[in-house]
Amino acid sequence: MSATETHDPNRRDFLYIATGMAGVVGAAAAAWPFIDQMRPDASTLALASVEVDVSSLQPGSSLIVKWRGKPVVVRYRTEKEMKDGEAVKLEDLKDPMARNANLPSDAPATDANRAATGKEAWLVMVQVCTHLGCIPLGQEGEYGGWFCPCHGSVYDTAGRIRHGPAPENMPVPTFQFISDTKIRVG
Ligand code: FES
Repeated sequence: MSATETHDPNRRDFLYIATGMAGVVGAAAAAWPFIDQMRPDASTLALASVEVDVSSLQPGSSLIVKWRGKPVVVRYRTEKEMKDGEAVKLEDLKDPMARNANLPSDAPATDANRAATGKEAWLVMVQVCTHLGCIPLGQEGEYGGWFCPCHGSVYDTAGRIRHGPAPENMPVPTFQFISDTKIRVG
């Protein structure tokens, strides 16, 4: 399945996880079951990274890959999604911290600090609700970002928590563009 928008977020999100594991992650995914079985220590986990080919993504589409056992969404945001994110005042945020592993821990949760540096259309984020760990649905909810149906947490287009019981923005993992079309996560 190609990484494009559909009208069925449940089906879409879970299919992306499946295809991400099978195709996008490649060698790293093949190694994962073995590593996982061996119950790796922290140093082994620290080395785990995945390379993600994002050449098929257009603005408004996403894909999800599995990284260290968690779904990581790569979203190529639309102009509107970026503008909506930039328009939010920091004082209106429930969690004012960027939660971006690529930035200092006290970086504020501006839209730019949540996105890829210099490539603000791109959002790379662990798509796990910070309340109790459900997987939120993408492009749902009041802000057109993410919505967690478990207990109603609503995230905006930068993955920042806006309403509901989740205490924090969804975390941005360490990542970098290693070419125009490839991202390394981890
Ligand atoms: Fe997401 Fe509770 S786990 S709102």
